[in-house]
Amino acid sequence: MRYGISRRKRALLRCLFILFAAFTFITRLMLTLRSLDAPPTTITTTSNGAMLDLPAQLELLDLKRVAFLSSAETPIQAGPKTKNCATVEEMGKVFRGRILKDSLRVRKLIQTHFSINGAPRIRELPPEQFCRHGFVIGKASEAGFGNEMYKLLTAAALSVMLNRSLIIGQTRGKYPFGDYILYSNLTFTLREVKHLWRQNGCLKKYGRHLVMRIDDFEKPTKTNALCGNWRKWPQPIIWYQGTTDAVAAQFFLKNVHPDMRNAASELFGKPESLQSQPNVFGELMRILISPSRDVEEAVNWVIGNGGRDPDITLHMRMLMNRSVRAAQAALNCLKRAIRNLQQGSRPRVVVISDTPSFIKGITPNISEVAEVLHFDYESFRGKVSDDIKSLPSLEFRVKDWGPAPRWVAFVDFFLASRAKHAVVSGAHRRVGTTYAQLIAALAAADSIASRVICWQKV
Ligand SMILES: *[C@@H]1O[C@H](CO)[C@@H](O)[C@H](O)[C@H]1NC(C)=O
Ligand SMILES: *[C@@H]1O[C@H](CO)[C@@H](O)[C@H](O)[C@H]1NC(C)=O
Ligand SMILES: *[C@@H]1O[C@H](CO)[C@@H](O)[C@H](O)[C@H]1NC(C)=O
Ligand SMILES: *[C@@H]1O[C@H](CO)[C@@H](O)[C@H](O)[C@H]1NC(C)=O
Repeated sequence: MRYGISRRKRALLRCLFILFAAFTFITRLMLTLRSLDAPPTTITTTSNGAMLDLPAQLELLDLKRVAFLSSAETPIQAGPKTKNCATVEEMGKVFRGRILKDSLRVRKLIQTHFSINGAPRIRELPPEQFCRHGFVIGKASEAGFGNEMYKLLTAAALSVMLNRSLIIGQTRGKYPFGDYILYSNLTFTLREVKHLWRQNGCLKKYGRHLVMRIDDFEKPTKTNALCGNWRKWPQPIIWYQGTTDAVAAQFFLKNVHPDMRNAASELFGKPESLQSQPNVFGELMRILISPSRDVEEAVNWVIGNGGRDPDITLHMRMLMNRSVRAAQAALNCLKRAIRNLQQGSRPRVVVISDTPSFIKGITPNISEVAEVLHFDYESFRGKVSDDIKSLPSLEFRVKDWGPAPRWVAFVDFFLASRAKHAVVSGAHRRVGTTYAQLIAALAAADSIASRVICWQKV
């Protein structure tokens, strides 16, 4: 008995220490970032036929950390160790094929998960099995797309780790971003789960209340991400709240319970092994979301129906600023990426930005080396449903994301994620990372190649 108590105490102490360490690190990083006057930064993400270098991996970790801190309002800097783009030759002779292998392994894991826990199979379970089954719910509002999407993807990742089914939360019967995005039929809605719960008599026959356990990641003193064994939680539904970036799901890699750590590292790879970095979020998006018909029609219009998919995406978040240095840096990175393509035909480059004048300014320069694709929504005559077209542009959004109507950002997202080889992203002072991260992740999953991130100081 005493032994039991002291073990619990030790576990608690260890847990507190980890909490402390994690949040000290983050606080320190935040202070460092705040104190720096951030120069414009360009990030390149290339998918280069399954090669990767170690420094690039480290920087990917940095990016994840930075992403953790980058709310839309926080000025951030790209990390202290800026470095030029790696050349193909420099990239990962050692780990060649490794990322590809890891991503394929995770793709298989995710597929297996959804074939077992996907709605079509779970719906058909006999009552006593159904009523014992667990769910994870992902809820998103319609705020910044990147952050909100991460909430859903974190729930999806958690559902894999916990061997539970995934519910996509709706608001008044509507999916988040439901005008632009379709969700896989492997997911449940809460309405359906409630219905099945009643139909199977889970409460009446088995005494199981359909309750939800909420864990708030935004409250460091309350979250159980590090100390709880979520796989043992009895509540039918779990909601891991406030998870707006790539980090929340990966906190489980540091959980005190080996059970949780193993489940997390099966998905994300062992944290101490930099060689193992599967494209988890890209693979989850690939299976869970697709563009609505209207959005897809617009994407195909830009690519030219039957046209070749773009090779490279350039994403620049300029906040209405005209920065010659940022344009110069973007061109440099782009040219490097093009050199690495080593293909015969003229490369196709998608350009997306919140700042129309930036696109206009840089297009002639890119045209010297590549064909420029851009979604010019004003001349798009395709069918965009009136629902979408008539949504008002909100003032705060214009300031943050430019004057284009909201639906254009979704066309840009799915257009940009068609890039086969690289995603180059840059920003003026504040980096809109999550949107660009998700584009890069989805692009990499679709072309099942590796990702390399590099910083270019300008
Ligand atoms: C996941 O749950 C299914 C039943 O839904 C079970 O058969 C399987 O063994 C579980 N897998 C793990 C790894 O717990
Ligand atoms: C679910 O979606 C897949 C792929 O999108 C499709 O092939 C399948 O027919 C759908 N299943 C049902 C039951 O609608
Ligand atoms: C451009 O960036 C600066 C900060 O670098 C900012 O003060 C300014 O409001 C931005 N917008 C315009 C239109 O200059
Ligand atoms: C783009 O091309 C124009 C004309 O050649 C040149 O003046 C300008 O400096 C170039 N811009 C950048 C960012 O290189």
